[in-house]
Amino acid sequence: MLRKIVTRILLGVLALIVVSAGGAWLFWPKSWTVNAPITNSLFGWGGEPTPEDALRKQLTIPAGATINIYANGLSQARILRWTAGGDLLVSVPRKGEVLLLRRDANHDGRADGTKVLVEGLNRPHGLELHDGWLYIGETDAIARIRFDEATGAVSGAVERIVTGLPGGGNHWTRTLRMGPDGFMYVNVGSDCNVCIETDPRRATIMRFRPDGSGLEVYADGLRNAVGFDWDPQGQLWAVVNGRDLLGDDFPPDQLQRVEKGKFYGWPYRNGDNVPDPDFGNHQDPRLASYAAPWFALPPHGAALSIKFLTGANAPHGYEGKALVALHGSWNRTKKIGYEVVALSWDAGGKVSLAPFVSGFQSNENVIGRPVDTAQGPDGAIYISDDYAGAVYRLSFSGETAAATPAPAVAGGGTELRESFAPASIDRGKRLFETTGCLECHGSDAPPERKVPLKALRQRYNAQDIAALLAAPPSNMPLFELDAHDKQDLAAYLLTTHP
Ligand code: HEC
Repeated sequence: MLRKIVTRILLGVLALIVVSAGGAWLFWPKSWTVNAPITNSLFGWGGEPTPEDALRKQLTIPAGATINIYANGLSQARILRWTAGGDLLVSVPRKGEVLLLRRDANHDGRADGTKVLVEGLNRPHGLELHDGWLYIGETDAIARIRFDEATGAVSGAVERIVTGLPGGGNHWTRTLRMGPDGFMYVNVGSDCNVCIETDPRRATIMRFRPDGSGLEVYADGLRNAVGFDWDPQGQLWAVVNGRDLLGDDFPPDQLQRVEKGKFYGWPYRNGDNVPDPDFGNHQDPRLASYAAPWFALPPHGAALSIKFLTGANAPHGYEGKALVALHGSWNRTKKIGYEVVALSWDAGGKVSLAPFVSGFQSNENVIGRPVDTAQGPDGAIYISDDYAGAVYRLSFSGETAAATPAPAVAGGGTELRESFAPASIDRGKRLFETTGCLECHGSDAPPERKVPLKALRQRYNAQDIAALLAAPPSNMPLFELDAHDKQDLAAYLLTTHP
């Protein structure tokens, strides 16, 4: 009797499962299985970039081109610089390192390994090669070390040829480029979103001689000109990030044609000569040399680099155009950017913008954030991504990279099973609530400042979080925290915002 009842119940449950599974099948959304970014953010890939096949499905690239992962596991790939020997240098500010991605000698479209070339640097960003030296833009100094481009080896000690640059603050990245005039150029972004700076070197592009002498402000009123380059005629252009907190669509980021001694408006003018609501009435003699932006880039798109495509191996149809990497917005209701665009100039100097590689964000889901682009010796375009910790290779030669999965080359992926002591998590929670993190990362944070923290375990381990707190992303303040605090904050964040 009892056995009969149990059997009936079991049969009933089985029938229910079959019926409901059938129903679910009928109403299953078609897109479910191919929605790579959702899959990515739900389950993660252990700190690896989105796998190549999913990447190829999601990204829109120029017709005839192929994209593949050149290197991954880099934690935070920022500025790219090719050496004459065919190695690719990458800066990793968060780790204080410059990496060397070994030349792809076997032509499989992947770097043949990675080595840490220089370490122990203070937020290294800009990289330049000149006269047997590797120059490195630290946040408050220009460092250099002897470097043999043929062998890829450094020698001697790091020396600092410019010290005491205003470092840290909101805009701490120093991009470094050798100019056609024999001077080396460096951007020094503003300390704040919008304010009147006390240090006249802030919000400028500066230049100095390669021996470190003659440091001077070249152009001023540039809030954060992270990316700059010279066109084939030798004219300097910069992409500049506009201020935040004036709404979704204002001000635009700017493309500036940079000339010596000119003033480009910040903090008094936004966009095309629109007075700033906070400082617009302020009298400043520099406004007499005000130059309006040449072209408006997407508002809050965070343009981080501009590179002109030149020489015989520029991709066909792109000769003389410039690639601009849009890192992507953080304080806009709907995300914008997360792509690389191509700018072209007509005979009259009028600029137009077209997509180049887009789709690192779709439906508010992010799989990558482009930082820099570099034309490789093979004619391919290389793109760094500091979100996925990867470098992508966009090739135009028609050949497809080997279908084998890209191996993780440096540091490996995130340790997923890292676990933390309850006391550490508790203390981290208290720190998170009392240090001011809630101001931007709390659920009640004001919408214009709110940055929800999520999917942290996919991209960070505790050590990465500690490093991030020591060198925060732009727009996030630097907090006075000791190693113990950072460890506990990491324990809390990785446990509660996996
Ligand atoms: C004034 C606003 C602000 C405050 C205060 C702030 N942050 Fe941030 N935080 C940001 C911004 C902006 C970003 C970068 C967002 C972006 O670029 O997508 C960020 C990014 C992060 C990230 C990386 C998120 C990711 O997805 O990669 C972590 C972790 C983080 N913050 C932790 C903290 C902690 C811990 C504190 C407190 C000690 C803190 N933040 C305080 C603004 C803030």
